[in-house]
Amino acid sequence: MITLAVVNQKGGVGKTVTSVNLAHGLALRGYRTLLIDLDPQGNVADCLGLPAGNDIYQLLFPGIYAPLGSVTQSTGRENLDLVRSDKTSVNLKVAIGSIADRPREYLLDDALDGAHYDVVVLDCAPSVDILHTLALVAAHYILIPTRLDQLAVKGVREMLTTLKSLSRITTCELGAILPTFYDRTTKESYLQLKHLVEAFREFVWPPIPRDVVCRESTRFGQTLWEYSPRTRALVGYEDRSGRLIGGYQQVVDRVEEVLIK
Ligand SMILES: Nc1ncnc2c1ncn2[C@@H]1O[C@H](COP(=O)(O)OP(=O)(O)OP(=O)(O)O)[C@@H](O)[C@H]1O
Ligand SMILES: [Mg+2]
Repeated sequence: MITLAVVNQKGGVGKTVTSVNLAHGLALRGYRTLLIDLDPQGNVADCLGLPAGNDIYQLLFPGIYAPLGSVTQSTGRENLDLVRSDKTSVNLKVAIGSIADRPREYLLDDALDGAHYDVVVLDCAPSVDILHTLALVAAHYILIPTRLDQLAVKGVREMLTTLKSLSRITTCELGAILPTFYDRTTKESYLQLKHLVEAFREFVWPPIPRDVVCRESTRFGQTLWEYSPRTRALVGYEDRSGRLIGGYQQVVDRVEEVLIK
């Protein structure tokens, strides 16, 4: 089982859209996939057209510690299960924060121990808090979506500094940096992508095009694979030679390479 945390301390960079569409993309290829929402905004359930719920609270709240199987929801999609979050996660953070004994940072890692999935995708909140730490401890790799703006390199560096500060308690590594909202008609997108590649080299994966369908599909509670399987954010953009580059399809391809290894 491989656990991937989708993280960026900056808000609105495409973490949730990435988590949902990566998870469903893998599920559609037959991988048993668990998607876990660690954000009190609880957006993952919305994106899948499901009601909100406090599954993560039940799973991790000290004294409750419900077994994973009892809080996991079926999404109605083959191979894709969900652990939902809602605003009760704010109380959860306070409660976990007050645990003194066994390192609380291992709570999620322990909860996932022995789970029967091929891949677990963790959608994180745009903040550095205890749930964020739990995700970095439970994950094997982080995936960092980032918008292509002036703060992109800085934002990624901040994330890597946070990861490094936890190196005593986690073996989690940088998996990939995922440029999102890519607009090939603007010089800004191109320049920032170039900066990102100069700074982080092969860790930068082909970008996800800006695509209004991302917002629309969320409104309809469908993943991109369901709502518009040929849309740009999935299949990428055409380069001069007509080759398709980027998009979530390539992200799924690359994650699959790791799963097959
Ligand atoms: N490639 C894209 N093109 C256009 N819109 C997008 C794209 N990716 C995401 N969006 C839209 O941008 C908004 C923010 O995306 P998302 O919720 O995934 O970001 P986030 O990083 O999870 O935000 P938060 O930090 O608040 O959790 C949403 O309305 C989403 O539909
Ligand atoms: Mg989000």
